[in-house]
Amino acid sequence: PVQALSPLLKLHQEAADFYHRVLITTKAGERGMQYARQRDLSDEILDHFKIGYAPKQDNLLLTYLRGKDYSDDDLAKSGLFVQSQDGRLFDRFRDRLMFPLGDESGRVIGFSGRRISEDKTEAKYMNSPETEIFTKSKALFHFAEAKKAARTEGHLVLYEGYMDVISAYKAGVHSGIASMGTSLTDQQVYMLKRISRNIIINYDGDDPGVHAEERATNLFEKAGGFNLGIVVLPEKLDPDEYIKKYGAEKYLDEIRGALSPTDFLLQRLAQKYNLKNDRDRITYLNEAVKEIARLINPVEQDLYLDKLAKQQGVSKDSLKVNLMRERRRQN
Ligand code: GTP
Ligand code: MN
Ligand code: MN
Ligand code: MN
Ligand code: MN
Repeated sequence: PVQALSPLLKLHQEAADFYHRVLITTKAGERGMQYARQRDLSDEILDHFKIGYAPKQDNLLLTYLRGKDYSDDDLAKSGLFVQSQDGRLFDRFRDRLMFPLGDESGRVIGFSGRRISEDKTEAKYMNSPETEIFTKSKALFHFAEAKKAARTEGHLVLYEGYMDVISAYKAGVHSGIASMGTSLTDQQVYMLKRISRNIIINYDGDDPGVHAEERATNLFEKAGGFNLGIVVLPEKLDPDEYIKKYGAEKYLDEIRGALSPTDFLLQRLAQKYNLKNDRDRITYLNEAVKEIARLINPVEQDLYLDKLAKQQGVSKDSLKVNLMRERRRQN
């Protein structure tokens, strides 16, 4: 038998419809619409992602949902309201562009709201708190849609931000997902494994982003069984900024040119050394060989030894001697 939608799920669906309608059709939503246009969000995209606007005015959502006969108990449990000392409820999200967060089958279970005002003392993004239906460590933005797209695209692409998923979608990558601004969790890795073994990580090109890519790479490798690609965008750009600056075609080239984990780690490693200095270079080569020695596949080992030897102008044979030593040590 089909289970009736729980009150919290139904409430979230109605809230998403409400925010979306406010954005698209109301005077109160004009501020949100102005911001949406500034971010190049077309009507089609606003529809596809069910993006909305939480108005500035007090308690419009509260009034709306009370009109639909939700109990204060359900409203309080939804996380969409804050409660004052004396128990009164207030809309949690105000003057924010609203991104609905879905579960695996696309049912709305929470929201993230983007600040519109210039007031930097307010958090840029505000998420729903944990509720009966919303667990941050398991939530993935655009997961239900990405799951379907993964079948045709042959991979899933992991982003840092909602706007990155959206811009990538416009550029033709429909299999994009993002975690809730928190770093990737084991649960999420497990969820992804059931959908696709081919994962492309495309976080922001700034230092925190690249660092997070390293961390995510380790998480996937620890889980095992993945075929990873890592994209590092130039000029510290995030995917949204990159696409705006260079266009969809160049962006798709970046995705196609995703680095293997070993290439990514070796590039990261190289940046720590001054390769013009021999002592530094020797240390780098030793560390790089250690990295290559961890590879299980001898063909991969051979490929990267070859690459490293050519890049650094040393003989592959000498690297191989070190590699064999390393392998004995690691066993
Ligand atoms: P835009 O400025 O809208 O393009 O956002 P962004 O996605 O580029 O943001 P950024 O790279 O700074 O952060 C990446 C992700 O981290 C965001 O999409 C959010 O999920 C999350 N995040 C950023 N700022 C905040 C914040 O103030 N609070 C929370 N909870 N999450 C945040
Ligand atoms: Mn669609
Ligand atoms: Mn970032
Ligand atoms: Mn960003
Ligand atoms: Mn951004």
